[in-house]
Amino acid sequence: MILSPNGGIYRLLSSLLLLLALVGRVAQAQIPLDLDNQESIKSAAKIAAAGMMRDYIGNQPGQIPGRFVEPYYWWECGAAWGAMIDYWYYTGDTTWNKDVTEGLLWQVGPAANYMPPNVSKSLGNDDQCFWGLAVMAAAEKNYPDPPADQPQWLALAQGVFNSQTRRWDTKTCNGGLRWQIFTFNNGFNYKNSISNGCFFQLAARLARYTGNDTYAQWAERAYDWTVESGLLSPRYEVYDGIATDNCTNMDIIQWTYNAGTYIAGAAFLYNITNSAIWKNRLDSLITAASVMFANPDWGQGEKDVMIEPACEFNTQPAGFCDPDQQSFKAYLARFMILAVKMAPYTESIIMPYLRTTALAAAKNCRGGADGTTCSLRWSKDDWQVMYTGMGEQMAVLEVIQSNLQRSVGIPVTADKGGTSKGDPNAGLSDERTVQPLDLSPIETKDRVGAGFITAIVVSGVLGGAWWMLI
Ligand SMILES: *[C@@H]1O[C@H](CO)[C@@H](O)[C@H](O)[C@H]1NC(C)=O
Ligand SMILES: *[C@@H]1O[C@H](CO)[C@@H](O)[C@H](O)[C@H]1NC(C)=O
Ligand SMILES: *[C@@H]1O[C@H](CO)[C@@H](O)[C@H](O)[C@H]1NC(C)=O
Ligand SMILES: *[C@@H]1O[C@H](CO)[C@@H](O)[C@H](O)[C@H]1NC(C)=O
Repeated sequence: MILSPNGGIYRLLSSLLLLLALVGRVAQAQIPLDLDNQESIKSAAKIAAAGMMRDYIGNQPGQIPGRFVEPYYWWECGAAWGAMIDYWYYTGDTTWNKDVTEGLLWQVGPAANYMPPNVSKSLGNDDQCFWGLAVMAAAEKNYPDPPADQPQWLALAQGVFNSQTRRWDTKTCNGGLRWQIFTFNNGFNYKNSISNGCFFQLAARLARYTGNDTYAQWAERAYDWTVESGLLSPRYEVYDGIATDNCTNMDIIQWTYNAGTYIAGAAFLYNITNSAIWKNRLDSLITAASVMFANPDWGQGEKDVMIEPACEFNTQPAGFCDPDQQSFKAYLARFMILAVKMAPYTESIIMPYLRTTALAAAKNCRGGADGTTCSLRWSKDDWQVMYTGMGEQMAVLEVIQSNLQRSVGIPVTADKGGTSKGDPNAGLSDERTVQPLDLSPIETKDRVGAGFITAIVVSGVLGGAWWMLI
């Protein structure tokens, strides 16, 4: 190598210096997080939240309030507003409240039950329910109430609940909610744990908030059906769903958010009943969810960091976590904190997981143009551009802010501090948004059930989830 004496060496040195500077910057540019310092947790949450809101376009001219950019489905937008209500609650930062309120109110639909016509034809019960959980959180946290002439948070949650009770289907598998609401959608003949678990949790939370026992009875019914159907195993593993044609053909894959929905629902029922039976269920669900935290002996990376075992470590393209799945860990964190609040004795079991996870997740926010964009594989501190986006940001946001749980109060109720106005008959004013268009049995061969589709997906996915079968 020949370097010209005046230009070359200088250029080489300056590129080396630039490289060093860049390496230095990259090493520093991750979300700083000190879990023993509340201000540090808040600033970390602020960075993760801003990263998530980068994908929000609903506040721009000509765009639809409440919606994020493609490829994020409508349900995930509702999930994101739930995360942002928590963000406001934990940090007191009102920066995004205008967008949150505007989005939540824009999407309520004609019957104020989160079945807006633009998307309702493709909606599943789980999709609608995630918006229901967001407004339920708004009521429980005394998030600022909408103007009096608009639907109110509690009534919206009741609207979602009421419309879903009308879809409880005893014609197949002895009960349960179907995944999809309309017969023409793939997934109408699939009953899944996220739809039933979300309904279970929403009912349990409405029971506590309102003190109305009807909700508690529905929560019990949903839980019992999950056990009877086999979706909640004797070992308290939550499986994904069953095909309604036969009710034994089960997709046994486990997702973080399915476990989370049942954990929070059980915690609310434990709190209401103070019973040994719900304590045992809650404890067992939390124990079973330990597989959602990395075990180094299984090659999953840093111990106790939250993982999405069904897809996170897969290397085949078919097994990668899709945009929905990239957000699931957000909900396990969110729902585990509800358990801490409703069953304070679980704090010593849950918080060590969420502390370890938060540190690993913040550290993994070290890429992108801002140097603090988050990725998905926290337990291996593996940053990949394909795993960046709204779901990853939301998941990191929820695990970070969950570490502020001690600094906030407990969810309010109608009797104790709650200001949101309810309506027990909400959400039933438009029959098209309540009942499936057609509940006749599905026979046509083009209505291929999601059960079969997921069965195919599962065989591709099980590579990374082999341990679930043993
Ligand atoms: C439905 O779509 C129209 C046309 O894009 C839009 O103007 C409207 O805001 C949408 N409404 C909702 C509730 O998304
Ligand atoms: C239900 O489906 C499973 C899996 O495809 C099959 O093994 C079983 O025999 C079926 N049961 C009935 C009663 O058709
Ligand atoms: C219910 O939750 C409240 C608020 O955290 C708590 O004070 C109370 O002890 C809980 N009840 C039970 C049975 O744990
Ligand atoms: C309790 O909830 C049920 C179901 O929504 C409703 O029909 C009933 O009127 C409620 N009862 C009271 C006292 O609000």
